[in-house]
Amino acid sequence: MKITVVGAGNVGATCADVLAHRDAAHEIVLVDIKPGIAEGKALDIWQSAPIDRFNAKTIGVTNNYLATANSTVVVITSGLPRKPGMSRDDLIETNAVIVKGVTDQVIQYSPCAIIIVVSNPLDAMTYQAYITSRFPRTRVMGMAGILDTGRYKAFIADELNVSPKDISALLLGGHGDTMVPLPRYTTVSGIPLTEMLPKERIDAIVERTRFGGGELVKLMGTSAWYAPGSSAARMAEAITRNHRRVFPCCVKLEGEYGLENVFVGVPVVLGKNGIESIIELKLTDEELVQLHESAKAVKEMMDVLDKLEEKNR
Ligand code: NAI
Ligand code: 2OP
Repeated sequence: MKITVVGAGNVGATCADVLAHRDAAHEIVLVDIKPGIAEGKALDIWQSAPIDRFNAKTIGVTNNYLATANSTVVVITSGLPRKPGMSRDDLIETNAVIVKGVTDQVIQYSPCAIIIVVSNPLDAMTYQAYITSRFPRTRVMGMAGILDTGRYKAFIADELNVSPKDISALLLGGHGDTMVPLPRYTTVSGIPLTEMLPKERIDAIVERTRFGGGELVKLMGTSAWYAPGSSAARMAEAITRNHRRVFPCCVKLEGEYGLENVFVGVPVVLGKNGIESIIELKLTDEELVQLHESAKAVKEMMDVLDKLEEKNR
């Protein structure tokens, strides 16, 4: 099995490194447009194989999609990251051109691949890969929910001074400030979070999670990569190993949650066919309103893409 990661920048290289260390496929192909960068990073990862004891052969190429042929999973991370003062949505025009061009090449060589989009603005870029590839919705998804839930869980672990391993949580909606963390579905080794923390502390954690990406951009001058790279790798691995993991992923909704034709984060089962099923939670009226608000914000971005597509036709 082969996994391709397009974009050998911070997120793509981290994703390839995690995939290789976990032996998630026999071959990991890293692609970038800048000559030498993917080759160099792939070689560096491969040289850690004898040290860290993994087998996955990691190779890097410059824009050579022949090397990606017949990939089972393709992770798209190519695109500009945020700089301080920018929102994810500011990246839409530039990244749409990149994601479209990359998707076109990917599908030419891997017509049966499952595509995981990471580039921002995430939900809109997932839509871009979907309309360009014309793949079924089960084979085009976006990574955001695992990362946002990871941030939420890490903040809870800090607040309670417990292991992050014992926090189980879910988060819905778009990858933006309108995301919908669900304290009602958050537990600490099975104990409801609502029994362990007062509402105002939970609200503060939810707020910090909503702006978790921006917090890191302010600190580093660019966006995060360790947790994003790992999150995308976990999705790819769930597919290549048919783990049937339950993850929040960005998918196209066709009536689920009362939403039609919009890409938004919801819990799904991830396995060898990609999205094996979408899990519909029983939400309270307030949670449902929040999810619909979030979907509305994504829809506005999708409309921008539709207009761009029309203009370029
Ligand atoms: P980066 O700048 O470190 O890497 C991007 C790489 O893409 C560069 O190496 C660049 O040469 C490459 N690239 C650009 N155009 C290309 C093309 N046409 N074909 C192949 N490669 C191309 O950026 P970073 O930090 O890795 O972020 C990548 C993207 O992921 C950004 O859009 C960022 O906003 C997004 N992101 C999304 C997250 C999420 O939760 N979905 C989390 C973190 C980042
Ligand atoms: C993040 O949430 C910027 O989407 C990126 O870190």
